[in-house]
Amino acid sequence: MKNVFIVLSCVLIVGCASDNSGMADAEDRNIIDDGSGTVINLSDYFDIDFNSLDNYENQSIPNYIDEDNTPNGNQITNEGATLGRILFYDNTLSVNNTVSCASCHKQAFAFGDIDDVSIGANGVTARHSMRLINARFGDETNFFWDERANSLEQQTTMPIRDHAEMGFSGENDDPNFNDLISRLETVDYYPELFNRAFGSETINETRIQNALSQFIRSIQSFDSRYDDNRILVNNDNQPFPNFTNQENLGKQLFTQQPNFNNQGVRIDGGFGCAGCHGGSEFSIAENRGNNGVIGVFGSNDIDLTITRSPTLRDIVGPNGQSNGAFFHDASANSLEEVLLHYNTIATNNPDLDNRLRQGNNPQQLEMTTEEMEAIIAFLETLTGEDVYTNEKWSDPFIGVE
Ligand code: HEC
Ligand code: HEC
Repeated sequence: MKNVFIVLSCVLIVGCASDNSGMADAEDRNIIDDGSGTVINLSDYFDIDFNSLDNYENQSIPNYIDEDNTPNGNQITNEGATLGRILFYDNTLSVNNTVSCASCHKQAFAFGDIDDVSIGANGVTARHSMRLINARFGDETNFFWDERANSLEQQTTMPIRDHAEMGFSGENDDPNFNDLISRLETVDYYPELFNRAFGSETINETRIQNALSQFIRSIQSFDSRYDDNRILVNNDNQPFPNFTNQENLGKQLFTQQPNFNNQGVRIDGGFGCAGCHGGSEFSIAENRGNNGVIGVFGSNDIDLTITRSPTLRDIVGPNGQSNGAFFHDASANSLEEVLLHYNTIATNNPDLDNRLRQGNNPQQLEMTTEEMEAIIAFLETLTGEDVYTNEKWSDPFIGVE
């Protein structure tokens, strides 16, 4: 149908190329024809229509969302995010072609992992994988549980350079990042896909970072029951019209600050969760300390460095099952266990955030069963549906790679 249209319009428009078939090829973005005789049909590799890319650059964002960590110079484009999607799902990015980003960041689990620690190309990760929902919508620009990446862009190639995860570390016997670039240059479609995204066929680390970041920032979830209600009111403090009384109580407990006696025991007020996971983003606040979870997975060591959390949106899936264990060391297996942690913070570590203590006394929230059930009911309203199934964030590769 499209070709017929092009042929017809060429008949009508004066001065269009006389070679109709050549023109049709040039118009078909599923075909890469570099003129040297090699013709690549992208439809043989990807379940993507390159003539009509999915919308990543113009998604609607609710007006109550105002945090955005997109840096100048790396706005999402459809070509860039599409390249990022292909890279994200490509096992070629690991040294032995066994692991992609999606191996540990699975769409079905909000781009996290239900395994406590994840299997990489050369071993297992030291920490629990992080969900990648709404990574764009936070003021905090540092990434990883301990924030060792200064931006999402910088973060995206660190797993590739990690020996255990994807294996291009350049250390010991590992190949280095330039070896990965050489590898991508020999893949038929990558030079042209980089050209479409960035204007030339050059493949370098910055472009890989930019494409992966565009794809990750495009992963957005705003179709939860929370959102359906938030749009109807002016702020989070107003009761939501279509929430149950229990959910509204949970929202209030999440949002309001606790009042403590001088022993750190809560006498009234809420739980103060919004002090660190606030706004309609539920992203982690800037400038906060440790929350008292100091374990190391599979060991008795102590880790005081953790100060970041992914958004609390989509911590459970649409079926109500949690999208994997909680906390960096996977030490909480349910939301009840998360609350029990905050209810009685056990250790007074030097980096424990002031919001979670009164002087030297770590907080005791004295939660009742009713309050716990209410806050869990509220947290469960933060889950959307689209992000789990929308094909634009799914594996684009056809068949076995
Ligand atoms: C072998 C499993 C594994 C692979 C492969 C992997 N990741 Fe991760 N990812 C993790 C773990 C574990 C963490 C948390 C690590 C930490 O904080 O120390 C993480 C954290 C992240 C974060 C930080 C999120 C936040 O909110 O701070 C981003 C972004 C991310 N990964 C993107 C990627 C990308 C892009 C790739 C592919 C290039 C990738 N990951 C490959 C396991 C993996
Ligand atoms: C002082 C800041 C702070 C406050 C207050 C706070 N949190 Fe957290 N929260 C964090 C940090 C930092 C992490 C990451 C900790 C880790 O994984 O070790 C976290 C992690 C979590 C997680 C796990 C996220 C994941 O992806 O595994 C949940 C759920 C959570 N918090 C819920 C709450 C609730 C509910 C409250 C109120 C009772 C609360 N938080 C209060 C800072 C805070």
